[in-house]
Amino acid sequence: MRKISPRLIYFFGALGGLLFGYDTGVISGAILYVKRTLDLTALEEGMVVSSVLLGAMIGAMSIGPLSDKFGRKKMVMFAALIFLIGSLGSAFSPEFITLVLSRIVLGIAVGGASALVPTYLAEVAPAKMRGSLTSLNQLMVMSGILMAYIINYAFSGMAHTVSWRWMLGFAAIPSAILFIGGVFLPESPRYLGRIKKFDEALAVLNMLREPAEAQAELQEMKDADEVELGGFKELFSKFVRPALVIGVGLAIFQQFMGINTVLYYAPTIFKAIGMGDSASLMGTVGLGTVNVIITAWAVRVMETRGRKEWLLIGGVGMAVSLVALAILTNFAATGIMSYVTIVAMAFYLIFFCATWGPIMWTMIGEVFPLAVRGVGVGFSSLVNWGANLLVSLMFPVLLQHFSMPIIFGVFAVMCALASFFVKRYVFETRGRSLEEIEATLRDRANVAEDDSVVAGTTPIAH
Ligand code: GLC
Repeated sequence: MRKISPRLIYFFGALGGLLFGYDTGVISGAILYVKRTLDLTALEEGMVVSSVLLGAMIGAMSIGPLSDKFGRKKMVMFAALIFLIGSLGSAFSPEFITLVLSRIVLGIAVGGASALVPTYLAEVAPAKMRGSLTSLNQLMVMSGILMAYIINYAFSGMAHTVSWRWMLGFAAIPSAILFIGGVFLPESPRYLGRIKKFDEALAVLNMLREPAEAQAELQEMKDADEVELGGFKELFSKFVRPALVIGVGLAIFQQFMGINTVLYYAPTIFKAIGMGDSASLMGTVGLGTVNVIITAWAVRVMETRGRKEWLLIGGVGMAVSLVALAILTNFAATGIMSYVTIVAMAFYLIFFCATWGPIMWTMIGEVFPLAVRGVGVGFSSLVNWGANLLVSLMFPVLLQHFSMPIIFGVFAVMCALASFFVKRYVFETRGRSLEEIEATLRDRANVAEDDSVVAGTTPIAH
């Protein structure tokens, strides 16, 4: 087995997140030029934008069983290839249909990566660093979005018939880098342990831990109950249900808090306060930069508090910022008011970037037992993309029928509900090994049985 430094393993392990961010972020700018070149109707425009989300649902759904069967590493390389095909296909599309199909293909890679990256990172990370390492995923997502904003800005000066092709095609470069990185990535030790390749698992652990720690972890893996590899059905078993409730609940609430619509609405707000086209593009780059900085900070401080506590701080913080936005958008966005509005929006984004953004992806990677981890992460990720699609499709309709204060108010209520959900159903995972987390689930299932309470609807002790 090739030796590779832990830093490189974590970097390439998380790189799929960069493509996830780039490919979802790039379209907001590129669509302006696609629309003109291909002469799209409003419906076709919507299809070009949301086709990635549809593909992502397919990718998230299929990656679990595939990565359980073929291993995480092969799937990283496979996803990199699909990223490459999807980005080149989009860039060279002669017309609308080819573009939509290419973006569905691209979406399959995006959805696949969104589930695969947290799984891989959670499985290679030492317990005490797992939160920070898995939140690298979100840092990559944010960096990918920022990269897309910058590339869009850079190519926006070109003739509009070709600029969008460069914007969409640029993703081929990180895709190729991911593929090459994939060749050098070691397989996940947890996966190797499950297929009983303990020697190889130990070799990988030795790259990432002190020898004594590596031995101890190997023993822990060997001692973990022999669980048959489960499929979709096992996700609903009494034992797994509390994990499923957490995974699905966090996935839905993360989108229902309105993050992507607020991200989309940001440039419009910049324009509303009188910034020109290019200034609002620059403003968007500025916002993207702040998001990356905050997420980088979140990666550093993630382990200083429990995941639950961060989620609660975030949920309440976002709810308060949204209430402020709901009140502020009642007034005309002029003078000082417009800047106060931006500050409220920045606070909302900061709270999201520091908490729910990274932690949702972290927790879905660690809360499922090994036997169903691939399927569980895939399913939670599928639900996240489904909720994303639903909110993106509903948002224009909401805008038509309701005023901004009402919409912000609805999102604020969602943040409050999300906080209640966390308080009641989420249990703490920080600093505990994946095997210890499994033991908690097992305890929960037993307790539930003894009390003849239906597992999964019972609040979990903290
Ligand atoms: C999270 C969300 C994703 C969103 C991104 C924004 O990764 O899951 O939908 O676009 O954060 O940073």
